[in-house]
This record gives sequence, structure tokens and C-alpha cells, in this order.
Amino acid sequence: MTDASAFDPTGKDPFALFDAWLAEAESTEINDPNAVALATVSPDGWPSVRVVLIKGRDDKALHFYTNYTSRKASELDATGRAGMSIHWKSLRRQIRLVGQVERLPDHVSDEYYASRPYGSRIGAWASKQSQPLASREDLIARVSQAEADYPDNPPRPPFWGGYRLIPHEIEFWHDGASRLHDRFCFRLKTPDQPASGWDIQRLYP
Ligand SMILES: Cc1cc2nc3c(=O)[nH]c(=O)nc-3n(C[C@H](O)[C@H](O)[C@H](O)COP(=O)(O)O)c2cc1C
Repeated sequence: MTDASAFDPTGKDPFALFDAWLAEAESTEINDPNAVALATVSPDGWPSVRVVLIKGRDDKALHFYTNYTSRKASELDATGRAGMSIHWKSLRRQIRLVGQVERLPDHVSDEYYASRPYGSRIGAWASKQSQPLASREDLIARVSQAEADYPDNPPRPPFWGGYRLIPHEIEFWHDGASRLHDRFCFRLKTPDQPASGWDIQRLYP
């Protein structure tokens, strides 16, 4: 059983702690240590959740990429809000985040898109993510068309790009013996001001 007493975030920057836990997970998880459950909510209050990959961060936000016409994107654009949960089974740890969401600047999405393998870049052109698909053949035909249109160096589709989640709450959960887990919640002193600094609160498991 993991020793929960080893975990003490006092005085730490939550993003540095996020980096440290992710770096450990990169050597212990069997795949996709950067996979997170992303929760969105529709304007009339229905939640939905799906997995995306964290592909970077800045000093205030985590970055992920998707299709801007997808269900998640329409909910993100409509509400500007999201939650995330990352669970690393190999480490028995979880991180949860809640915050505002905005699209990444075009030049950041361009740079990330250009770093992707050719097939993934073509896939972004071919997929009308979250729209009904009549048959697998239709998707393959769209892939072939995108390959013909862009035999090399496809540009980023205008309907594909990144978001940044700017958390005002980040909770670190560490497994403890007899389910006496350790939980620390970082909350921004002023929720819409990332520069306001963090209050840290230990929570009952
Ligand atoms: C391990 C894993 C990683 C994924 N990464 C992404 C991602 O980074 N971006 C993305 O748009 N979808 C990703 N997906 C697919 C989404 O979970 C989801 O099926 C898709 O984005 C459509 O969601 P939506 O209809 O709610 O918009 C991933 C799925 C899995 C299982």
C-alpha cells in the first residue's frame, strides 16, 4: 500500500506538482499517461464526459486538442466551463480540475498540428467528429480524398484546434491504507484571477 504520509504539497505550485505526477506516470502507466476524463455541460445542464489527451500547458492552463464542431467543442464554446479527472492506476493517484475554458490561439494550434504524424493530420481533415457516419467506407473515402488534396504537409483544418482549461480548483488525491486517502485541494484565492495565488486545503477522504 502506498504511504500517504509521503505526500505533502504545502508551499508547492499545483502545476509543478501536476508535472511531477505526470512524469512519474509516464514511466509507470502502460499507455496514455496523459489521458484525462474531460467533463462538459450542455447549456441546459446535461453533463457529458469523454477522454482526451493533455498535450501541453502554460503557467495557468492545461492544453488539449479536438474538432471544433464536435459535441464537446460546442459545449465548451457555449459554456466556457469544464472539469477533468486523471486517474493513474499504477500510482493510485488522481488529479481533478475545474475551470474556465477557451480556445488556444491559432498559432499554438498550428504548431501542435504541424508536430503530428501525417496520418493524424489527415485524420483530422477526414473526421466530422461526433456527426453521424453512414458507413466505415464513407470515412475511408474521406481519408483518401484528404490524402489526394494534401499529399504532403497538410495545413491545420479551420475546424480543428486546441483549448486551454484554466483551473480555479485542482485537487490531488493519493491512495492511503484502509481507504484513509490523502486529499489536498488548491483553490485560487480569487477564482477568475490566476495570479491571485492558491489556498491549499486538506480534505477528508
Ligand atoms: C485514450 C483516448 C484518448 C483520446 N484523445 C482524444 C483527444 O485528444 N481529442 C479528441 O478530440 N478525442 C480524443 N479521444 C476520443 C474522445 O474520447 C471522444 O470519443 C471524441 O472526442 C468525441 O467526443 P464528443 O462527441 O463528446 O465531442 C480519445 C479517446 C481515448 C479513449
